[in-house]
Amino acid sequence: MAQVQNPEAAPGNEEAVRAWDTVLYERWKKNREVFVGALDEVTGQVFDSSPPPVGGRCIDVGCGFGETTQQLAGMVGDEGFVLGTDSSPRFIEDARREADEAGVENVAFEVSDAQSAAWAPEFDYAFSRMGTQFFAAPVPAMRAIRGALKPGGKLGKVCWTRKSESRIWAETEEVVQRFLSRPDEYEADTCGPGPFSLGNPDTCRGILEAAGFDEVDLKRRDFDYYMGKDMDEAVDALLAIGPGAELIRLNGEHGESRRPEIVEALTDHYTEWEQPDGSIVGHGSVWIVTATNPG
Ligand SMILES: C[S@@+](CC[C@H](N)C(=O)[O-])C[C@H]1O[C@@H](n2cnc3c(N)ncnc32)[C@H](O)[C@@H]1O
Repeated sequence: MAQVQNPEAAPGNEEAVRAWDTVLYERWKKNREVFVGALDEVTGQVFDSSPPPVGGRCIDVGCGFGETTQQLAGMVGDEGFVLGTDSSPRFIEDARREADEAGVENVAFEVSDAQSAAWAPEFDYAFSRMGTQFFAAPVPAMRAIRGALKPGGKLGKVCWTRKSESRIWAETEEVVQRFLSRPDEYEADTCGPGPFSLGNPDTCRGILEAAGFDEVDLKRRDFDYYMGKDMDEAVDALLAIGPGAELIRLNGEHGESRRPEIVEALTDHYTEWEQPDGSIVGHGSVWIVTATNPG
């Protein structure tokens, strides 16, 4: 794999930042409609629990293609402003272009690793959808995000609960494990601590408290996860990103050689989740996290 160096990556984050700027960027982009659409409902729940203030300044951490950055821009209105940030230059390039094409004027985007960012305390609201699980040093990273907030500023974020608590991830991985196991050694870049690193509520809360946040609140939300309009799309998406997909990727050529059998087994497994219109809807579980910067 090409060793793309990103000067913005904090020590310890180089591999994860590289993974998100290369293979994971490409896979997220290809399956974007599924991944982003599936999280729409829980995104709305974060905004309901902790809405950004009209006219306020917001920061969106790990903003990806900036869908939520644009949503926030609509919520704060013309007097407000939103900064979308991500450690991946490729995500930011797309996010910037799309906001521009959409004529959204009250946004800006920057490439920065949250763990080494030094934002001034000028924001009223910090948001992140699935962007805070990949830090090698989560406490300094969350401290930097708190540092971006004015005293009394709010945090609203969403992250996965434990892997075992989302049937889509746990059962997909179990099926793939019938064919493959995690190799002792591999060349592929991984996304560091990974998507489920904040699954344990004590860990998720403890990191925020150690970073100086107050009024930390975690609400578990179990929801219907839209996996695709049909079986092919669902299997493609769940074998692009997530624990089952990673097992194939880490196994390199050997992993790819087992893909046809895995696709067949997963198609069989997901039949239970097939809807009358042919779409596939599984079960996911997230934390809706809110907190305050006491100042
Ligand atoms: C699962 S994607 C979520 C993207 C977007 N928030 C969404 O919901 O569509 C995770 C995002 O976090 C970004 N990311 C990973 N590590 C990061 C870091 N250390 N600092 C900032 N962003 C990071 C990735 O580049 C990626 O865009």
